[in-house]
Amino acid sequence: MIEELVRLIENSDSIVALTGAGMSVECGIAPFRGEGGLWEKFNPEEYAHIRSYRNDPSKSWELFKLQIEEVTDAEPHAGYDVLVDLEEYGLDSVITQNVDGLHMRAGSKDVIELHGTLSKLKCDCGYKEDTSEYLDEILENKVPKCNCGSYLRPDVVMFGEPLPAHAVERALELSRNCGLMLVLGTSSVVYPAASLPVIAREHGAKIVEINPSRTTLTGTTAHLSVNGTALNVLKGMTELLGK
Ligand code: OAD
Repeated sequence: MIEELVRLIENSDSIVALTGAGMSVECGIAPFRGEGGLWEKFNPEEYAHIRSYRNDPSKSWELFKLQIEEVTDAEPHAGYDVLVDLEEYGLDSVITQNVDGLHMRAGSKDVIELHGTLSKLKCDCGYKEDTSEYLDEILENKVPKCNCGSYLRPDVVMFGEPLPAHAVERALELSRNCGLMLVLGTSSVVYPAASLPVIAREHGAKIVEINPSRTTLTGTTAHLSVNGTALNVLKGMTELLGK
């Protein structure tokens, strides 16, 4: 299957990667669904919905703190470097649902963060600052405050909020125009991200998913489902590329 994937990469000149939480699992960051997933411990309605944040920011901050802690401790694994190297083989952009900033840290040149980023905090008054400036307070379980008096929160998309329009527009455009979409480590159940492989396929792209489990794309939208972890498959792929 990895050989088939390599053949598709070598025959495509416009490749897009779409990543989800599974891409970061091997960096020590928990996914959302399944065993050990964040939604086992944190009911998303209670912790990750904009309504619950407005009612009680300190509760949502229990989740944000854990996520920020995990990301602070994490480094991109070698699979991230493979996605950077794939730029030589026609990978144009990485569309990610992840908020951990790891594709940027690994050096991917064009990253579209559909669900925002944990690396910035923002306030309703328009203030934005690097999360690192508030890290000590956050790790001491304090909820950081803006000078205007309101609470700060990470610049991520919460349930009940729209996605950043420019990110959605770019993701749609890339999906319509790519020849190959690599879908890595996403359960493909959250929209609109889950619709991108469907749109890409409708516009003629080949769809390859890399995931150790079956997803909504398996046997439906995906032309090829490579069963394995992101790190193992990407590393295996790089050994065959260019041979
Ligand atoms: P999920 O937690 O729903 O799915 C993670 C996927 O990664 C599953 O399909 C796993 O089988 C797969 N997986 C696990 N370990 C892997 C590994 N080592 N390598 C490759 N794949 C692996 O995460 P997402 O699909 O990213 O949104 O979730 C989408 C959105 O749902 C998130 O961005 C988040 C959440 O609610 C918001 O918070 C707005």
